[in-house]
Amino acid sequence: MRALTWHATKDVRVIDVPDARILQPSDAVIRVTSAAICGSDLHLYDVFGPFLHRGDILGHETMGVVEAVGADVRRVAVGDRVVVPFVISCGSCYMCARGLTTQCETTQNREHGTGAALYGYTELYGQVPGGQAEYLRVRRVDANAIVVGNELPDERYLFLSDILPTAWQGFRYANVPAGGSIAVLGLGPVGQLVTRIARHHGVTVHAVDPVVERRLMAERYGATVYDLDREAGNEAGDEPDEHHAAGEGHDHDRDDVIGRRGRSELAELIRDATDGRGPDAVIDAVGLEAHGSPGTAFAQAAVGVLPDALAKPLMKRAGVDRLAALHFAIDLVRRGGTVSVSGVYAGNVDPMPMMTIFDKQITMRFGQCNVQHWVPELLPLAEGPADVLGLEDLVTHRVPLDRAPEMYEKFRDKEDGCIKVMLKP
Ligand SMILES: NC(=O)c1ccc[n+]([C@@H]2O[C@H](COP(=O)([O-])OP(=O)(O)OC[C@H]3O[C@@H](n4cnc5c(N)ncnc54)[C@H](O)[C@@H]3O)[C@@H](O)[C@H]2O)c1
Ligand SMILES: [Zn+2]
Ligand SMILES: [Zn+2]
Repeated sequence: MRALTWHATKDVRVIDVPDARILQPSDAVIRVTSAAICGSDLHLYDVFGPFLHRGDILGHETMGVVEAVGADVRRVAVGDRVVVPFVISCGSCYMCARGLTTQCETTQNREHGTGAALYGYTELYGQVPGGQAEYLRVRRVDANAIVVGNELPDERYLFLSDILPTAWQGFRYANVPAGGSIAVLGLGPVGQLVTRIARHHGVTVHAVDPVVERRLMAERYGATVYDLDREAGNEAGDEPDEHHAAGEGHDHDRDDVIGRRGRSELAELIRDATDGRGPDAVIDAVGLEAHGSPGTAFAQAAVGVLPDALAKPLMKRAGVDRLAALHFAIDLVRRGGTVSVSGVYAGNVDPMPMMTIFDKQITMRFGQCNVQHWVPELLPLAEGPADVLGLEDLVTHRVPLDRAPEMYEKFRDKEDGCIKVMLKP
């Protein structure tokens, strides 16, 4: 079968690999009808090389039709249309019983001290072959697969595998009071869905992203959007470039659009718009940045080229994070508010503004999404006739699997208006 495989940092290829097949009685094999590229795949593409192996099949947002089931499978049958959560859980351990499927005690990767196994996500999470492929071996299918109807298009269901519950968890963890406000940092697919979910709950949204078409999409769903200048004006008192301040040469020619500013200026603007306090919660949908400050770019590039034996400890201990978005979130949130982090972070020694966190009495919540826990409340929204979250209006690129390598680059570089890629094997 054909599959998208990792070969080296910034080098993924679609090649022929052995067919997915049943190896355990709890397995199924699906014929993949759609697989998406996720912002998390970009971390694998750019930074996590030391934990990947040549030939690893990537992809963790997958749906398809069941082709074969193992002897113990009861809930799912050949011919069923299923969505596969990116988290592999057992459904019955202490953690799963509490809805914490990302911490499943049956599939945890104890060797690396990490949580539940994930599809297509490095040796840290079990080195499980992923779903950007013609076929996928689905593990523990009874505990995980989401069986869906046949009428609606894949777009309505595919995002249940990851980004829809991720955005939902980010919003729920943000604990926004009724009629309250949030800031969303990052308007990739996750930030887009956070915005829509928040608006659906009647919450005011201030959304920040440096990419114009992503801001325009969020604006269509009711967010007030802000352009971020990542290079300039990040410290208090810094002045943005003149042409930036005037908003010239940017996005649209409208006066009401909040033009490119540094973080401290944006914080002021958003505070002004929230009674001077800052939003009740900030949701970080950025995560570790693969591009940005020269220092980080260097460290990340170094990790990409160092031999694994050197790079692994560097990544685990020193980390290669750029915490810009997280620090911004801490600065921006109102006193007593919540910072809810959906973006993926790694690295253990990056400095955190402990005094601010303590003094402002901030609640912080993090984590991989417990997909299985949220699906029952999300499924009716996903397949409701009104498509209230606009799931059919997120994918910008639908391409054959063979074009996946080119789309990794486009999605990373945010070229050609690329916001969400759907691969059609
Ligand atoms: N917790 C989970 O289970 C889970 C699941 C899926 C994705 N994620 C993570 O969520 C994050 C977002 O995923 P995505 O698919 O939307 O990816 P993405 O890379 O398309 O989105 C990130 C967005 O952040 C913007 N950005 C970069 N720096 C910024 C800054 N300093 N301030 C504001 N915006 C900034 C980028 O322009 C981009 O639009 C990634 O870190 C991904 O790994 C986590
Ligand atoms: Zn993902
Ligand atoms: Zn479990």
